[in-house]
Amino acid sequence: MITSVKEILLKAKEGGYAVGAFNTTNLETTRAIIDAAQELRSPVIIQVTEKTMEYAGGRAIVNLIKNIAEFYAPEIPVGLHLDHGKSQEIIEHCVEIGFPSVMYDGSRKNFADNSAMTKKVVELCHEKGVAVQGELGSVPYIGETDMGEIDWDQYMTDPGEAEEFVKNTGIDALAVAIGNAHGFFKERKEPDYDRLEMIHKRVNVPLVLHGASDWENGRVKEVIARGICCFNVDTATRISFVNSLTKSLHEQGQLSFDLRKLMGGAREAVKNTVKEKIKYFGSDGKI
Ligand code: G3H
Ligand code: 13P
Ligand code: ZN
Repeated sequence: MITSVKEILLKAKEGGYAVGAFNTTNLETTRAIIDAAQELRSPVIIQVTEKTMEYAGGRAIVNLIKNIAEFYAPEIPVGLHLDHGKSQEIIEHCVEIGFPSVMYDGSRKNFADNSAMTKKVVELCHEKGVAVQGELGSVPYIGETDMGEIDWDQYMTDPGEAEEFVKNTGIDALAVAIGNAHGFFKERKEPDYDRLEMIHKRVNVPLVLHGASDWENGRVKEVIARGICCFNVDTATRISFVNSLTKSLHEQGQLSFDLRKLMGGAREAVKNTVKEKIKYFGSDGKI
């Protein structure tokens, strides 16, 4: 059942666990995420990016997610969310086509411009009952820079600014940068746990961590203990999908043109990855 993202996150915050916000691009991934949540009796968030909306069609993907949630998992809380909306235009479009929750990502703007723009987005969204996630500091992307050379200080969330940002803008959730980065890396920077604790003390909205797809369970637990109640996951599920499909194509591609067999394996692989993450996050059994 489609459920308010705000409600899902507040319950996680109160309960001391985290929920997964999984990116989808297609039918197979959407079914995999919802089926995983159903099997583990877990709340879950499904999110799409602008690129996915261009690829699938915004209304098509939104209605696909809503239909799968309503018909195949009526008792599971499923949040529907726009990930990394970068302009007022895309936010307004998403509100119009039925997103109950959006992220406005002004993280590459300076503090004043990010605050002003996020506040504007919050005003227009709250008027329509739509929740907003903001980002302060900035979570880098693989390939954006040589990660060995990265000047992490430039990306990190400042706890004092975070407090001011949340007060100024009225956001419902905050994405933080504490050494996390989008994509898979050979080596990861150790997260700045002290910084996260300081942010958590000064900010009362749920805290979201992007780009922790390849974090091991121990590290996941450390940040949950310090206030993270949502993890965005994309790369891990994409890799499971592609690896499975590659294997199937290799093994049966010359023999089978049955897309259901080829894509079915990929769907199963994504489901297993989502289940593993849900268990790490501790949201299994929490419906
Ligand atoms: O941070 C979000 C995604 O991993 C980027 O996904 O390629 O759909 O924009 P995208
Ligand atoms: P990964 O691609 O590292 O899984 O990050 C996902 C994310 O942050 C989506 O917003
Ligand atoms: Zn992200």
